[in-house]
Amino acid sequence: MKHFAIAGLCLAMASSAALAQVNAGEQKSDPNLPFTVTQITTLKLPWRIAFLPDGRMLITEKVGGLELVTQQGAQTPVANVPAVLWRGQGGMLGVYLSPHYAEDHNIYLTYSEPGEPGGSSLALARAELKIGNGTASLENLKVIWRDGERGEGGQFGAAVAFSPDGKYLYLSSGDRQRMTPAQDPNQPLGKILRLTLDGKPAPGNPMAGKVGAATVPVIDPPEDTEKAKTQPVIRTYSFPGPNLTPSETWASGFRTPYGLAFAPDGRLWELEHGPRGGDELNLIKPGKNYGWPLVSYGHNYNGVPIPSPETRPDLTEPVIYWVPVIAPGNLMFYKGSMFRQWDGSAIASGLASKALIRIVFDGKGGARTAERWDVGHRVRDIEVAPDGALWMIEDANPGGLFRITPLGMAVSAPMAAASAQPATPAAAAPSGSDSDHAKSIIANNNCLLCHRVGKEGGDIGPSLNGVGTRRTEEQIRAAILTPPAKTSTGTANPMPPMKGKLSDEDLNALVNYLRSLPAQP
Ligand code: HEC
Repeated sequence: MKHFAIAGLCLAMASSAALAQVNAGEQKSDPNLPFTVTQITTLKLPWRIAFLPDGRMLITEKVGGLELVTQQGAQTPVANVPAVLWRGQGGMLGVYLSPHYAEDHNIYLTYSEPGEPGGSSLALARAELKIGNGTASLENLKVIWRDGERGEGGQFGAAVAFSPDGKYLYLSSGDRQRMTPAQDPNQPLGKILRLTLDGKPAPGNPMAGKVGAATVPVIDPPEDTEKAKTQPVIRTYSFPGPNLTPSETWASGFRTPYGLAFAPDGRLWELEHGPRGGDELNLIKPGKNYGWPLVSYGHNYNGVPIPSPETRPDLTEPVIYWVPVIAPGNLMFYKGSMFRQWDGSAIASGLASKALIRIVFDGKGGARTAERWDVGHRVRDIEVAPDGALWMIEDANPGGLFRITPLGMAVSAPMAAASAQPATPAAAAPSGSDSDHAKSIIANNNCLLCHRVGKEGGDIGPSLNGVGTRRTEEQIRAAILTPPAKTSTGTANPMPPMKGKLSDEDLNALVNYLRSLPAQP
């Protein structure tokens, strides 16, 4: 017995070592989606979602806007947003709530800020969000951190994560497709910075107190990592004050860090695009160098090879990499009541892959992919709402805003937008006597105490008109037999379960009738 236990232990250790540097690129998508995707509305190139505690959302639009959006899809433009340079991958990028939002109503924005002598660079601003009756605006907007270099290139990074204690702000700054600055300690490009909530270098950073060169070279994006080594300097940039980049830097060597999130155990994870191949999930540790553009599991877009990370043990390897790429949109950790089985998992969104990927963690710094689901849209961002539903936005113009709820869960969907396609066409209307029978079942079970059908009934539950366009047949059946304990707004669900109280025949008649009800009474 003992021998087996030891053998088992050795196996476990071997497999945990083998967990490092797993290529997840060949993973097939799971054909069975365990959720329903409902389109709510569309936005103009939406980039990030930040949920307010009441379930409304702030959503950035890369073209330059910030919208306050209700769960029904109604949009109010937020006034006083800063000017952005919308071009390629730049524009209005991230939006994040302050960790003390309940008290300070502050939000943080990241965007590509235009300026002299042309082009743009990443800026981080903080402002107070004021919501009025049908209005929303930003007050006292202040840029608390900026890269003043300007110039060309996409890949701004622009993701923000707050330390679990709410004291520090981690900002990912992409390499702007210029590559070599990711290895230059004097430039913020290709770094993860750790700042105070006011945008100052955070105490305790690996190079705290150190200042960098007063002047740095600016280059245009080179064709590949080989050309980058001799890319001509087009001009220099002089910092207006001391160059605090070294004091701000937490880790370096990143390419396109669009995903940045803390796991429930306090570990910080980063997700980035590789070039052709080589997307990476990295476990972020202070002072480490993650290798771009010195090494990569991918090749340059023009096929020029890049040395493999295995050739440079001094650089930190990704925990998971993807060849071919998933082209990540963001990384988030799930916690909520709708998908309890995913608590503690991360979800990565995919642009080119049009996928959602669930990632699970071993609590010791290891991670592996669980399911991969093809959702048919370039997913820029996925976030969790206060009620536990997932919401995602599509990288397109117009780009959809979608709500994701568990399959078969009877949750009153926010009213679908006019453009939303019914998940399943409603069944043909039952003949007169069948529908009379269904109506009598409804009357006998007091369904109209809470629900409206046509002009009859109450408003405690959602109108049953159009339920067939919001819900699948199975979902309607489940809603009636075993309603969830809580409604979608988190309050106790008053609906009595009908399990054991309806014959199969009556249930079928009822479901068919409900599916036949027109969306508008
Ligand atoms: C005491 C109030 C109450 C009664 C009685 C009641 N319901 Fe409900 N029902 C609700 C509430 C509240 C919800 C929304 C739950 C949620 O948000 O998840 C709901 C949800 C539903 C849904 C899902 C709707 C959707 O759009 O997702 C269906 C279908 C449904 N009820 C059918 C019925 C039928 C049929 C009856 C009678 C047999 C009935 N209900 C009786 C309160 C009630």
